[in-house]
Amino acid sequence: MKIAVLKERRADERRVAATPETVKKFVGLGVEIMVEAGAGAAVHFPDDDFQAAGAVIAADPAAALSGAGVVLKVRRPIMDDEDGENELAAMSKGQALIAMLNPLIRRADCEAYAQAGVNAYAMELMPRITRAQGMDVLSSQANLAGYKSVLDATEEYGRAMPMMMTAAGTIAPAKVFVMGAGVAGLQAIATARRLGAVVSATDVRPVAKEQVESLGANFVMVEDAESAQAETEAGYAKEMSDEYKKKQAALIAETIAKQDIVICTALIPGRAAPILVDEDMVASMKPGSVIVDLAVENGGNCALSEMGAVRDVNGVKIIGHSNFPARLAVDASNLYARNLFNFLSPHIDGESGSLSFDIEDETVSGVCLTRDGVIVHPMLTVQE
Ligand code: NAI
Repeated sequence: MKIAVLKERRADERRVAATPETVKKFVGLGVEIMVEAGAGAAVHFPDDDFQAAGAVIAADPAAALSGAGVVLKVRRPIMDDEDGENELAAMSKGQALIAMLNPLIRRADCEAYAQAGVNAYAMELMPRITRAQGMDVLSSQANLAGYKSVLDATEEYGRAMPMMMTAAGTIAPAKVFVMGAGVAGLQAIATARRLGAVVSATDVRPVAKEQVESLGANFVMVEDAESAQAETEAGYAKEMSDEYKKKQAALIAETIAKQDIVICTALIPGRAAPILVDEDMVASMKPGSVIVDLAVENGGNCALSEMGAVRDVNGVKIIGHSNFPARLAVDASNLYARNLFNFLSPHIDGESGSLSFDIEDETVSGVCLTRDGVIVHPMLTVQE
């Protein structure tokens, strides 16, 4: 079996789907690997390192894809409605495409994979079961994004984070408020705490309280009968009612005015991110405060954030960088590549190097979008 590793072509993407380390492991299982030239250049993995690990370097995508059974990518292929050459067009029938495909938002792409006969696997749909933790790309990438969001905030915040008692007087610690205490939010809390900030956080899932408090932060949330049911079986948040949103907005308005830095991480799978910080709340913040909106790619938690931009709204900086994990592309690539290896390796025969997906395995059925020209994932076939 042959695996193709393609160079990412999106402007904000520096990550790569395989590293010399994972190439070596695949080769050890008898798999042939073709890596497109320059695929790891942005993360300091030169072609020579891939070659030394046992890969063959292909001059272009067509050469890498030729004869490949599996295609590894970070991001979904560029399609006709986007800038750049259609990447799916170069793939052929029967190939397995494994990447972060954002299928619940990009549903039309799934039709295109089926039409092309490409068997598509969306890694972000990996079930959150213990056995799949090493394959969980959302966690591996969100953790880094949460960390980086705090560093990005400190860069725009013209003041120190920890309390400092100096001969010239005392510097007060920064007050950081983290909205959404999932993987990214918890890492943001831990990072801000390490830097010496006074941290508080909110979520709609009551189970987050203990996790937040165990990191030394203060938990703030609207607790009622609805929040008791806010978590789905998969551990994600549900969209809340208008009534709950109103109560939550009042609590946030009161909290946010006292903060120096707000880190927004709240997401609801398959839906637009909830707007938690409105224009009036931004106006209530002190000039010099900073908002980082990690949810910007899903519409944003702050009504004023703009994807790919750092805005200044009456002295409040609103950071809306796209693709936060790619801002730490070396670590993000290392973890993502291991996630892919952990996903694929149980299905590779170590003697022959051939791949045979066990479709009864929930780590496979949980991420498989299309098979043999048909959309098969229940989240895509069941009408809401
Ligand atoms: P996510 O990225 O979908 O959302 C981030 C956070 O935003 C979540 O904590 C969510 O509850 C919160 N949120 C959504 N709407 C909100 C609102 N209106 N107001 C405030 N907060 C809101 O979630 P993520 O980070 O992927 O984690 C989801 C859950 O899965 C967490 O409980 C996490 O601990 C758990 N998990 C379990 C794993 C396992 O293997 N068992 C692995 C990774 C995560």
